[in-house]
Amino acid sequence: MRFYYTLIATFLPAFALAGKSYDTHLRSRHASRAAGLRIRADDTYVPNATVSNGNPPYHRHEHYEGESFFKDWDFFTGEDPTHGNVNYQSLSNAQRKQLAYVKDGVTVLAVDNSSSVPVGGKRDSVRITTKKTWNFGLFIADFAYMPWGCGIWPAYWSVGPDWPNAGEIDILEGVNNQTWNQYTIHTGIECVLPDNNAGIDALASPMGKTCTSSNGANSGCGYQNNNPNSYGAGFNAAGGGVLVHEWNSWGVKIWFFTRDSIPVDITNEQPNPTSWGTPTAAWPSRDCDFSSALYEHSLVIDTTLCGDWAGSAYGDSGCPGTCQEVVANPANFANAQWGVNYISVYQS
Ligand SMILES: *[C@@H]1O[C@H](CO)[C@@H](O)[C@H](O)[C@H]1NC(C)=O
Ligand SMILES: *[C@@H]1O[C@H](CO)[C@@H](O)[C@H](O)[C@H]1NC(C)=O
Ligand SMILES: *[C@@H]1O[C@H](CO)[C@@H](O)[C@H](O)[C@H]1NC(C)=O
Repeated sequence: MRFYYTLIATFLPAFALAGKSYDTHLRSRHASRAAGLRIRADDTYVPNATVSNGNPPYHRHEHYEGESFFKDWDFFTGEDPTHGNVNYQSLSNAQRKQLAYVKDGVTVLAVDNSSSVPVGGKRDSVRITTKKTWNFGLFIADFAYMPWGCGIWPAYWSVGPDWPNAGEIDILEGVNNQTWNQYTIHTGIECVLPDNNAGIDALASPMGKTCTSSNGANSGCGYQNNNPNSYGAGFNAAGGGVLVHEWNSWGVKIWFFTRDSIPVDITNEQPNPTSWGTPTAAWPSRDCDFSSALYEHSLVIDTTLCGDWAGSAYGDSGCPGTCQEVVANPANFANAQWGVNYISVYQS
């Protein structure tokens, strides 16, 4: 499935829907740079990863959990770059409105489920980004539950500056009440995976091959996990799970572990990916140099509503009425919460 957008202006990007879209990811693009002016801040940031190969043994570099969780993340308050019907809240407003809090050690990030908004209006939500950035690393995220449902587009992802130049890795993402997870990479530099996936060992099903976001085509190169416990209602019913992405000189690998299959070395905080077997999704640098296509990544967790993906896919989702009507009714957001047990970042 390929879906194309038309780029109608390059300096101040505006995207026009040229076809039906299920998997476009117009993420954190900024209007401040014209295409081609890719700036890699090598002068100002000396990435740890460039001095290591990003392989085990790993040591824990950051740990986000519990009462101290929020101090290390920025709350994004701008217009949703993906055109969703959301008002992203500051930390203080999110805390006051009970959209960001820690309960029993679980960090909860919620969508407003008590206010009515006009049809076509915006609902309060949150989008948070780590203050730190990394080049290479092992990123472990344990979610107790995640948002899902009609009109809802949750994502846990990592991204660098000047989208799409520093690339994007989508680790847990989907729309509406779909029952599968999609893992996707987006790049600014030219990057197309081989058609037959030769030599790539991964459990999930390959999707698009073009990682490059250009001329408004933003589907990315991805994998689909048809296991219903990988996303949404099924994920939550199984008690959530752990998503790991390893980004090193080999490329990028993602593992998804259900709650009952988390490797003991993860629990023991001595993660050794070489012991975990076939990854769920994998993108080797053999096909595309992910040490230059991806850089200075922060982690992001957000929940948007409708917008570029959930909105355009809404008609085929089996959900009732229109996406805008769903947003208006707070009763539709009973399941619109992230429950984060912890996120840890390891470096070698
Ligand atoms: C890499 O990062 C670790 C943890 O922040 C730090 O202790 C170490 O000095 C860094 N190594 C280099 C070579 O910069
Ligand atoms: C999505 O939700 C709609 C409305 O509740 C329902 O009819 C449809 O079967 C759901 N689809 C899936 C895949 O759960
Ligand atoms: C609404 O969201 C709050 C905050 O996350 C949650 O505690 C509550 O259970 C939700 N209520 C309903 C009815 O969805």
